[in-house]
Amino acid sequence: MASTVDSAAEQLSKLGIDGAFADSAPNLKKNLHLLSSEQVELAKMLMEMGQSHLFEKWAAPGVDDNEKRAFFDQVAKLNSSYPGGLKSYIKTARELLADSKAGKNPFDGFTPSVPTGEVLKFGDDTFINYEQAGVKEAKNAAFVLVAGGLGERLGYNGIKVALPAETTTGTCFLQNYIECILALQESSCRLAEGKCQEIPFAIMTSDDTHSRTQELLESNSYFGMKPTQVKLLKQEKVACLDDNDARLAMDPKNKYRIQTKPHGHGDVHALLYSSGLLKEWHDAGLKWVLFFQDTNGLLFKAIPASLGVSATKQYHVNSLAVPRKAKEAIGGITRLTHADGRSMVINVEYNQLDPLLRATGFPDGDVNCETGYSPFPGNINQLILELGPYMEELKKTGGAIKEFVNPKYKDASKTSFKSSTRLECMMQDYPKTLPPSAKVGFTVMDTWLAYAPVKNNPEDAAKVNSLR
Ligand code: UTP
Repeated sequence: MASTVDSAAEQLSKLGIDGAFADSAPNLKKNLHLLSSEQVELAKMLMEMGQSHLFEKWAAPGVDDNEKRAFFDQVAKLNSSYPGGLKSYIKTARELLADSKAGKNPFDGFTPSVPTGEVLKFGDDTFINYEQAGVKEAKNAAFVLVAGGLGERLGYNGIKVALPAETTTGTCFLQNYIECILALQESSCRLAEGKCQEIPFAIMTSDDTHSRTQELLESNSYFGMKPTQVKLLKQEKVACLDDNDARLAMDPKNKYRIQTKPHGHGDVHALLYSSGLLKEWHDAGLKWVLFFQDTNGLLFKAIPASLGVSATKQYHVNSLAVPRKAKEAIGGITRLTHADGRSMVINVEYNQLDPLLRATGFPDGDVNCETGYSPFPGNINQLILELGPYMEELKKTGGAIKEFVNPKYKDASKTSFKSSTRLECMMQDYPKTLPPSAKVGFTVMDTWLAYAPVKNNPEDAAKVNSLR
């Protein structure tokens, strides 16, 4: 026993983990000889980042040793799946938690205004012309479905893409989406006079949805799509945080695991980039990437015309939108202009729009204008990005999207949380890092044509509908 402790102490000193570190994690020190040198490096990083509490409940050597190794397998995964590793995650978390505690407004210095975009009327000449342009362009597009979400608000245990999109045939969302993509592929090919391409379809999944999505596809022969046309990309979760010092939260069910939660759909950009899929699409001559969500059965009625808008107006980013009622729980697409001259067109979440307006000279805040709707188009989070500029941007950022943190504090002192929190990111925040020269626009469609997501349980859905 003594020799074990000695060799561990030697290892500690070799790695520069001096007495102070070892004293703050005696249980780690006792178990160090169980770990590989890579794992000891990770232990050192955790200690340097103030995470010694993770080892407080570790048993003596000989007890739970496999669990201890599994703990470090998890740490290695958390470290490798986050740009810049866990160290960077903890550092960013501390900064964002300090900003949140101080009540810092992320839009400080920015003034909102209504941006310019296309407002379409279903069936008129403009709509039909854009639609035709979009169908023609579809052969140059790739589709990306983000389907890693838990659907907590809906309160449904299965994967949302397996829910029926309509009740006459019971066709599920995934089948509906695939059939729409295949129909677009066929029409686009016909217009291109035989110059046909298969439209690639990527699906972002998570541990919560991956195997069930794969099973749904396999047991239905990919709903008629070629299996090679479909790529599943699994997003990893991120570590939960227990306090303002970004101490990582232990899994309540296992003292050898860190609690994890989803990082948000913003992961899709980094995954498309790191998987090499974007490059593959670019090399194949594709021009557009269309992002959509798991339960919007109407969406594909709006896709051709919106793609036509992107192609005609050469939008680098085109957000699909619907008319928004003031205070409705969807974000508003807003131009934000900073006192220093910076400007961007971005989604402002509904709970941030009202205070932002009130603070910048609009004393009534988020209210309807003479049209009976908010002047800010309602973001439905379906994005069309032009692939070339998108690739260029991702070469710079690696696909990292500006994150946020949303801790639920126990009280006004903001010193402790009701439950653990984590960093999150949203795919619609992609334009935040774009240069002012980027062409960012939107396309507004009627709600009945474009937007009917399944997000809320029936009680909450009734409350949302009462606003309309
Ligand atoms: P939602 O806002 O509907 O979130 O996600 P959700 O996680 O599915 O539902 P709640 O918030 O728990 O009630 C919008 C889209 O983003 C995907 C969802 O699958 C949905 O298509 N998503 C969300 C991801 O792909 N990954 C995530 O981490 C979160």
